[in-house]
Formats: sequence, structure tokens, C-alpha cells
Amino acid sequence: MTQRSFNDNCCYYSPTSSKRSEDNGMKLLATALFAVAFGILLGLSFPSLWIAKASLPQNILHSFAISHRHSDIATPSKAIDISISKACIWVPSNPRGAERLPPGIIASESDLYLRRLWGNPEEDLKNKPRYLATFTVGYKQRYNIDACVKKFSENFTIVLFHYDGKTSEWNDEFEWSKNAIHISVLKQTKWWYAKRFLHPDIVARYEYIFIWDEDLGVEHFDAEEYIHMVKKHGLEISQPGLDPERGFTWQITKRREHTEVHKETDEKLEWCSNPPRPPCAAFVEIMAPVFSRKAWRCVWHLIQNDLVHGWGLDFALRRCVEEPAYEKIGIVDSQWIVHQFIPSLGSQGKAEEGKSAWQVVRDRCNMEWKMFESRVDKAEKDYFKSLQVQSPSNSTTLQ
Ligand SMILES: *[C@@H]1O[C@H](CO)[C@@H](O)[C@H](O)[C@H]1NC(C)=O
Ligand SMILES: *[C@@H]1O[C@H](CO)[C@@H](O)[C@H](O)[C@H]1NC(C)=O
Repeated sequence: MTQRSFNDNCCYYSPTSSKRSEDNGMKLLATALFAVAFGILLGLSFPSLWIAKASLPQNILHSFAISHRHSDIATPSKAIDISISKACIWVPSNPRGAERLPPGIIASESDLYLRRLWGNPEEDLKNKPRYLATFTVGYKQRYNIDACVKKFSENFTIVLFHYDGKTSEWNDEFEWSKNAIHISVLKQTKWWYAKRFLHPDIVARYEYIFIWDEDLGVEHFDAEEYIHMVKKHGLEISQPGLDPERGFTWQITKRREHTEVHKETDEKLEWCSNPPRPPCAAFVEIMAPVFSRKAWRCVWHLIQNDLVHGWGLDFALRRCVEEPAYEKIGIVDSQWIVHQFIPSLGSQGKAEEGKSAWQVVRDRCNMEWKMFESRVDKAEKDYFKSLQVQSPSNSTTLQ
């Protein structure tokens, strides 16, 4: 029995393994050197054992190794193991940490599809939504969210991130809510949720991912039509145009009439360079972004664990698409929204030092923006320095 568990658990690199990589070879060499050193040490300390060892059959040696497995002396069991050829699994191309599994069993990706508790799993899913829409919500905005959700067809999985702890109340009022995914954590921001709950491997089934605020008016918006536009124009990262009547922060996000999509703005040219850069092109805001699966796989990594407001992220998104980035990032004009500027989480700070609850949150947003900028800058500089080449640009910052 001991023998068996040894075989199962202790799969070291077998010298006869045909799959042995260079890395494995190095480890083997190191282990062998250890073995020699240990052997000499052992020989010096216990001359009688040295003699006995030489004449012992291998399976007894084996048990000797086992008896020492849990002692400080771990090396000999490995060393002896090398001499015993076993069928081991070590697949370097498997996901990190899962190298011991036969590749055929690995399920490295998931989805948010709801399943039933009975029956054949293969027959669980009547439809497999291809797109994902997430909203960060408070109960007060439920009617607006209800209106939003109705603009997203059955081809969408709906996820609500609740920052006010009210979740089951939604089920009382909205039928769709019973099929939505509800994630409730008090007073967190959408980028906090996105980092934690939308890992690219978890949402790998979805072709497009909407990560939206709760205060968007969607009267002139239809999600299927939107996706049609995004595909047609090859946008990896996009947002719907904003109704200019109702206010906007950046010129480029302003909805244009008579076009389907635009990717550049011709205003505030003092900020623009050639090739065009944010905020003149390759730019969407963080309020209503839509990511392709491919872009999200990168953007998730760009989101900093501790920077929860996501300020500055919009200026760096271009890094997540192939150049020319200004071709892959754009504003959809034919499906547009209204930004209602409802400061839900924005006013939930903790008033201190004479500053309002709103102001302290805003201060943090600005601070995060600066921190994010300097991290991106530093990372870029470090990278090019490590290659010993001149950094090709002066970063993402808005000069
Ligand atoms: C959902 O997707 C399918 C497949 O692309 C499409 O035929 C159908 O029209 C979509 N549903 C809606 C409501 O657009
Ligand atoms: C970066 O900016 C500094 C000053 O802002 C300027 O002197 C320098 O030439 C710029 N470098 C590049 C590579 O654009």
C-alpha cells in the first residue's frame, strides 16, 4: 500500500520518459548531483549502511526512501526514484500548476451558464449565450437596469454586481432577474468586481463582454444591433456614442449622426498626435465599454488589483489591441446611449478632514489615475531598458 501511494504521488522525472524537456533534464541533473553528494555524506556517516545499501534489492531501497520521505532528508527518495522507470505525467504545456494532469481531462475555461441539479449534463443548457453583459448596480437604479436588460436579448448572460447588498429584492420584481447572476459585495466598484469575477478563463465562452455602469439611458440602443456594428467594423474595444445633448467628457465619445461608427475626433488637436492617440482616437471611456474576448484577455491583466475606480484605464486600453490601435477601438454611433450622471457610488465615501463624502471619493479617483499612469510608464520604461533600447513613446499620459 505504501508502495502504491509512493508511485502515485511521487512522480519525478523518469530518465526513460520520451517527453523529457530541457528543463526536466536540468532538474534531473540537479537531483543526481544531490544524490551523489548525499550518498557520500551517508557513506561517511554510516559506513556499514553504505555496504548494506549496495547489496540491497531495489524494492527494499524503495521502502528505505519512503521511510525517510517525511523526515528532513527528502532528497534520497527522489534520487532513488530516478533509477526506477515509471510512467509519469508532466506536461509543460498544460496550464501552470496542472502539469501533472493528462491534458485530455483539463477544463481550463468556464462560463456563467446556469445548470440544473439532475439529468444528463449534456442536456442542461437550452441556450448558450454568446455575449456577457454586466452592470454594477444599486437597488435604487432597478428600473433603469430593467430597461437596460430588456435591450439585451436571450443571447446575453446578465451579471449584476450589487454594491448595496440588495439582491433577492430584484427577483420579486423582475422575471429576468431569476436567471441573472447576482454577485453582492458591499460598496465595491465595477473594476473591483471585474478583476475578481470576470477572469478571462471564467468568461471564455463569451465573444463580447459589456462592463457597464447603472446610469445609462438605452432608449436608442439595441445590443444585438450593436454587436452587429462592432463585428462589421472590426472593433475590439468600443462604446456606444453618448447623446451630446446630455453631456459628455471627451469629444470622441460624442455621438455622430449619419454614421455607423467613428474612430477619431478632429477636435482638441493639441492633444492629438500622429499616429492618433487617446483621447483623440483609440479611446473609449470606462463608463460603458465593450470588449471582445481577445481584448478582455489583455485588459483584465491591465486592471490593477488595488486601483478600484479604473481612472486612467481608458488611456491605456490601446495597449490591448494590435496596432494600429485606432482602427480597433471606436464609438458606435448608430446605437447610442444617454449618460445620466447619477453619482451612486461616487457619494458613498467617508467624509473626513472637512471634505465631503463625494470629494474624498473624487480625490481617490484622481490619485488612482496618477498612480496608474506612473505604473504604466515605469513598466514600459523598465521593459525597454531591459532590452537596452530607447522607449518609443512618451506613454499613455495626457500631456
Ligand atoms: C441570437 O443569436 C442567434 C444566433 O446568432 C440569432 O439567430 C438570433 O437572432 C439572436 N437573437 C436575437 C434576439 O437577436
Ligand atoms: C518625452 O517628453 C519629453 C518632455 O515631455 C521630451 O523632451 C522628449 O523628447 C519626449 N520623448 C519622446 C521619445 O517623445
